[in-house]
Amino acid sequence: MRLRASLPKNAFCLHEGPRPAILIAGGIGITPLKAMAQSLQADGRAFHLHYAARSRSHMAYRSKLAMAFDDTVTFYPGNEGRKIDIEALLSGAPANAMFYVCGPDRLTDAARNTADTLGIDCKRMRFERFTPATPEAGDTEFQVRLARFGTELTVAHDQTILDVLLDAGIDADYGCKSGTCGACAMKVVGGTPVHRDSALSDAERGEAGLICPCVSRAAGDGLVLDL
Ligand code: FES
Repeated sequence: MRLRASLPKNAFCLHEGPRPAILIAGGIGITPLKAMAQSLQADGRAFHLHYAARSRSHMAYRSKLAMAFDDTVTFYPGNEGRKIDIEALLSGAPANAMFYVCGPDRLTDAARNTADTLGIDCKRMRFERFTPATPEAGDTEFQVRLARFGTELTVAHDQTILDVLLDAGIDADYGCKSGTCGACAMKVVGGTPVHRDSALSDAERGEAGLICPCVSRAAGDGLVLDL
């Protein structure tokens, strides 16, 4: 049996430079954010770590985090009625802050939706999800035409464009399958995309005409891809 493999890719890496970082962890989502906080602290860069879990006893590393980060960490034990106020965190952060969110889907979805509502540039938001993104309730079937292959494929309501391309034997590149790394980005030459990624900038979506087929879909009947 032959397995295809590629070198590891980090789709959840820290930004360079002095911009402050807001780290938001839910449950075991603390794992990458703990390392990020340590790195930021070692570099003398501004950050604050927010950590929510069911209770204090469910918080991994709690006492070590409290000792290491002191007033730059805030704990939210749910059984004590403490919950992260995502809107307050996002709207109250410095205008140039970067946000890192790792945890269950309800946390990452809440952060993504709140950022959209507040008009925060998606390039300031970085996510790591526990599970690949899946189509949403209400999604419908549409067609994808591959301009250069000259074929048309059907994306069912419960499929992603990327999975349909891979099933059809198209050698499409991809990484996270959750709309966060941008590795799958490809050009749209027809139709109207519904963007659901947090990887592409407005310019990449607009002037460059890119789409992340692992999560994004089509408005209306379908899309034409430059494939
Ligand atoms: S595979 Fe990472 S954004 Fe699509």
